[in-house]
Amino acid sequence: MPPIHTKLTELLGIHTPIVGAPMAGASGGALAAQTTLGGGFGFIAAGYDTPENFRSQIHLARSLLNIDEGSRLPIGVGFLGWQLEKQNSSAQELLNIVLNENIQAVWLAFGSDLGRWTKYIHTYNEQVGQDHRVTIFVQISSVDEAVVAMNEWQADVIVAQGIEAGGHGASYALPLLTLVPSILSVTPIPGPLILAAGGLATGAHVASLLTLGAAGVVLGTRFLLSPESLYTDTQRRALIAANSESSVRTMAFDYARKTLGWPRGIDGRALKNATVDDYENGVDIEIIRSKFTEAVQNDDPSRMLIWAGSGVGLMHRIQPAKEIVQELHEQCVASLQTSRAL
Ligand SMILES: Cc1cc2nc3c(=O)[nH]c(=O)nc-3n(C[C@H](O)[C@H](O)[C@H](O)COP(=O)(O)O)c2cc1C
Repeated sequence: MPPIHTKLTELLGIHTPIVGAPMAGASGGALAAQTTLGGGFGFIAAGYDTPENFRSQIHLARSLLNIDEGSRLPIGVGFLGWQLEKQNSSAQELLNIVLNENIQAVWLAFGSDLGRWTKYIHTYNEQVGQDHRVTIFVQISSVDEAVVAMNEWQADVIVAQGIEAGGHGASYALPLLTLVPSILSVTPIPGPLILAAGGLATGAHVASLLTLGAAGVVLGTRFLLSPESLYTDTQRRALIAANSESSVRTMAFDYARKTLGWPRGIDGRALKNATVDDYENGVDIEIIRSKFTEAVQNDDPSRMLIWAGSGVGLMHRIQPAKEIVQELHEQCVASLQTSRAL
């Protein structure tokens, strides 16, 4: 298949403008490496990881990509800003590991002080040669946030995350079809690249976002349905069984598993189940927590957490990540050719 050329493929040196999202608890070294091997660009999520496990995920990616220690690793690592901002957080240690490991990109999202970390990376970039320079991705959900990310933080790549997105996101985000053009209308040329994330499932989706003017796309949920994701078979089966009405935005799971500290306005999109029902019905949080913990131990999808974007109803099977990228690429090229013939 011929490559697709966009400013993103040029910037990262990749074949197709498809990025695998950093997904806490789901995207490790295997998923990131296979996404890159498919011609796209994969991310590991630093999430809530320990330095030991994080290092082993990076080494796994290195060995799968066959890249020597010290040479540039063509994947990125995503950080949750609020984890970096916590006192004595190990996330800061993880960020230093990334810089020492010569990893190509860092992704920042969900923090009250992301500018502190972009500054930290810019300072690092000024001290190292071009072959160690880290590309900075920032994920945002509104035009105002995009303006700050481009003007104050000088992000190289801005990921516009729509309300459709699986996992955490802004409850106030616009749908992608409006968010992307709104951000493009305030983006200078030359300026940062704008990518689209949220609810994307097919190559026709990718083509439509490229047609809107995005330099690339980011998919999360679709990659959960790969054997390389860290999701369990039970979680994958639940995603396959889900239909287009199955996902909902909620804080139920953050209360249930005590992952609290997200910036104002952030919640998450997941498959609706009994944990969400109980939360919405005002059931005592301790009861929700104990039933949730039991469900996790018993691998019971009727109460456990399964993040999912609004496109989940369009996803029907498990495929290797590499094949997902290649299929999206082929479908995207076919869609672009069909549109040209209109
Ligand atoms: C399981 C899961 C975990 C996620 N974890 C993170 C994360 O750690 N950091 C982040 O910036 N975004 C995270 N996200 C959001 C993704 O970056 C991306 O915006 C989203 O997956 C796009 O929507 P989609 O899932 O509908 O493709 C996560 C998404 C999912 C599905």
